[in-house]
Amino acid sequence: MTDQGSADLLQKATQWWSTDIIDMKPGVIRFRGFPIEQLIGRVSFPQMIWLMLKGDLPSAEQGALLEAALVSAVDHGPQAPSIAIGRMAVTCGLPLNGAMASAINVLDDIHGGAGEQCMELYADIARRQDAGIELKAAIQQGLDDFAAANGKIVPGFGHRFHPIDPRSPRLLELVDAARRDNVVSGRFAEIGRGVEAEMQQRKGRKIPMNIDGATAVIYSELGFSPALGRGLFILSRSVGILAHAWEQSQQGGRIKGPMPPGIPYRYTGPGPRDFAK
Ligand SMILES: CC(C)(COP(=O)(O)OP(=O)(O)OC[C@H]1O[C@@H](n2cnc3c(N)ncnc32)[C@H](O)[C@@H]1OP(=O)(O)O)[C@@H](O)C(=O)NCCC(=O)NCCS
Repeated sequence: MTDQGSADLLQKATQWWSTDIIDMKPGVIRFRGFPIEQLIGRVSFPQMIWLMLKGDLPSAEQGALLEAALVSAVDHGPQAPSIAIGRMAVTCGLPLNGAMASAINVLDDIHGGAGEQCMELYADIARRQDAGIELKAAIQQGLDDFAAANGKIVPGFGHRFHPIDPRSPRLLELVDAARRDNVVSGRFAEIGRGVEAEMQQRKGRKIPMNIDGATAVIYSELGFSPALGRGLFILSRSVGILAHAWEQSQQGGRIKGPMPPGIPYRYTGPGPRDFAK
């Protein structure tokens, strides 16, 4: 290859990946321009997540609100499918990385996706407000269009176990405090509460905001794109998945299924019959 050819190839190769996130050279690691040695010991892990995703450092108060949302969703017990899958994977012999990957794989639309869908709903209502529609009408239209496209179940509201999800009022209390301190605008808390009130009016009973509805308020208040909602949830839930997978690895146990073997499942196929040659 000619010198020119080599130079062209090297230039092409250098341009293959481009990133605003990290600059690395021998002895140098900078995130968004900040040297890692200045970040270590000074910024919290949630502030680091913010820097990575949004390009600049948040204030301590913004970082604390993000942290509260991340703390709130770390675990929901071994009956949560993702946690159960992580634990079962360990009993099948998978190491922690495999167990975590198996568990995270199921955090999709139905299990784990409600927060992101709820952020999309809140964002849709906010866009209607921006177009000049007042809050109540924007919520009504947003809910109607959401139901037409996705069915009657509103993501971020209702819960199988908890009559009131204990995490939601606490998270909203923190958002209210952040609003008083001018850390957030409070706009999405108002939208979330408005959705809850509108659902109550339509249903005739309260279907309270759950953890996904409340974290959706926080992530939206902090300016995260709805498309990041599930990823943020996975960052949080990964802590619980790791803890459960590790605990299971310490407890031992081999090939644990979802239920103890003595508990039957329901067979719905044909009755006993002979196979005739
Ligand atoms: C979690 C969930 C599955 C619980 O549903 P559930 O066990 O049927 O809840 P309940 O028994 O308390 O409520 C039953 C009634 O309220 C309705 N309801 C419950 N959650 C609702 C919601 N989010 N939106 C609209 N209606 C809802 C049900 O349709 C049902 O109405 P019906 O009696 O007319 O059929 C449901 O609330 C849901 O899918 N929520 C949205 C998804 C979500 O946020 N998931 C994360 C949970 S942490």
